Amino acid sequence: MKIGNIDLGNRPVMLAPMEDVTDIGFRLLCKQMGAAMVYSEFVSSDALVRMVNKSLAKLQVSQDERPVAIQIYGKDADAMRQAAQIVVHHARPDVLDLNFGCPVKKVAGKGAGSGMLQNVPLLLDITRAVVDAVPDTPVTVKTRLAWNHDTMYLPDGTPFIVDLAERLQDVGIQALTIHGRTRAQMYQGQADWTLIGKVRENPRIHIPIIGNGDICCREDVERAFDQYHVDGVMVGRATFGCPWLFRDLLGKEPFTLDQKIDILKQQVTTSVERLGEYRGILHVRRHLAATPIFKGIPNFRETRIRMLRAEHHDQLFGIIEEIRKILHSYETDIQ
Ligand SMILES: Cc1cc2nc3c(=O)[nH]c(=O)nc-3n(C[C@H](O)[C@H](O)[C@H](O)COP(=O)(O)O)c2cc1C
Repeated sequence: MKIGNIDLGNRPVMLAPMEDVTDIGFRLLCKQMGAAMVYSEFVSSDALVRMVNKSLAKLQVSQDERPVAIQIYGKDADAMRQAAQIVVHHARPDVLDLNFGCPVKKVAGKGAGSGMLQNVPLLLDITRAVVDAVPDTPVTVKTRLAWNHDTMYLPDGTPFIVDLAERLQDVGIQALTIHGRTRAQMYQGQADWTLIGKVRENPRIHIPIIGNGDICCREDVERAFDQYHVDGVMVGRATFGCPWLFRDLLGKEPFTLDQKIDILKQQVTTSVERLGEYRGILHVRRHLAATPIFKGIPNFRETRIRMLRAEHHDQLFGIIEEIRKILHSYETDIQ
């Protein structure tokens, strides 16, 4: 699969953009594990135009993580155009991605993110403005199936997303990622891959279609490619506390329990180095809380609480080593 000139190989599996998760440290880790491309957290176009430091910091990329996509969001064509140029100037991303899928109220409620699905003419104007503003960078879009169940089909029966995909392609985007849910669904229910497949099977579509939603294991990846014929697959939540998932999804030899624990510790170290002791630990808690390798340990509650309350990395490492011993003391395979 290719986005512009960027060759992502056969059946690429990518790391989804996720706010507060896909910072540079986590992206690098997922890249090392086999992610074909990694996406930044979404960055507000309005904040970039105002040169807000916290947003500019999100434009930091490493040569080692390329190809990398930076994602921006907003509801104003001029701000999105300017933000696109700022991103290209600061980060030189391999891909610039536009977020038309975020469902959270503070974004979609104001008309940005998936809110754009209620104003397709503006969505297309914004996309056109960005495509024209950064002619040397491939522009891509990530979106959902529709705003809600009632708008999933046009009056003539065409799925909303099939029509939108054609229009976005006509405007000049170079790949489209579809999360198989409506905005109204937020993250509930199961992602509907049938409609993603319908976009792919439309003979008018020649840009790559990347499928997203509920990918957790190798079988899910195979189904996405074999049954729905997508060009690429994007994985989000299943990577929490589990960056080595990419190895499993790609059928590479799985890591040992010790290697996985070492990776979690490495995540703590990188996060603390980047954000400082307090914020760094706070930042990795989501991963420690979610990691599958600590699931199912009998009588784990008290240790888990201590782990999630630890405020210093040496204290945290002590608890993680305790857990390593506990895990080794069990004969059962809870990896
Ligand atoms: C914590 C969190 C933050 C997210 N932030 C973003 C974001 O910044 N940009 C975006 O396009 N999608 C964002 N998403 C949506 C994911 O990219 C993805 O589309 C969604 O989680 C479905 O994929 P999954 O089932 O593999 O998790 C976020 C999701 C989560 C759970």
